[in-house]
Amino acid sequence: MATLTGLNKTKTAVFISGKGSNLKSLIKFSKIKDSPISIELIISSNLKAKGLKYGKIFKIKKKVFDFKNKNISENRLISTLKKNEIKMIFLAGFMKILSKNFIKRFKGKILNIHPSLLPKYKGLNTHRRALDNNEKYSGCTVHFVNSKLDSGKIILQKKVKVLKNETEETLAKKILVEEHKLYPKAILKIFNL
Ligand code: GRF
Repeated sequence: MATLTGLNKTKTAVFISGKGSNLKSLIKFSKIKDSPISIELIISSNLKAKGLKYGKIFKIKKKVFDFKNKNISENRLISTLKKNEIKMIFLAGFMKILSKNFIKRFKGKILNIHPSLLPKYKGLNTHRRALDNNEKYSGCTVHFVNSKLDSGKIILQKKVKVLKNETEETLAKKILVEEHKLYPKAILKIFNL
């Protein structure tokens, strides 16, 4: 197989709002020789997002858009993505809902990671709801983003067992470890690698 150099990797952006642990795992993945992607931009909806620190650590450009006015923020965001020749977007704990127009513009090019076994538990508080329903299993899903929340085509899922005495915190922690492995695997899958 031909080796991918920085020049022929697909340029991508990761969108975050918080801690950015998935961002960190994606950055590490992007640096592997045979990874099909490079991460050129970190986009945050939150100036205080802890994950922004990875911009400095890994020397990746970062930009904050507050989405107070969605239209204005998205228009600026689109110019930034164009300027940086971004071809694919990875949502990783991004807490804003992108407009239909934005999603249409990047049709089939936006992925998201969600901490449940979709189609179960779309939206927020997934772990709480899974525990309240006495689920035996929960997990995480990487899927394409379409205009309906957490409803696009599923790429990969990972199941974890819900133990007795499991709390929201222990479940979240256990699933997050799997998220860090699942997102890179899902990217390899869509690149047929
Ligand atoms: C993850 O559980 C992700 O699935 C969800 O938000 C969390 C983000 O964590 N959408 P991090 O910011 O990547 O650490």
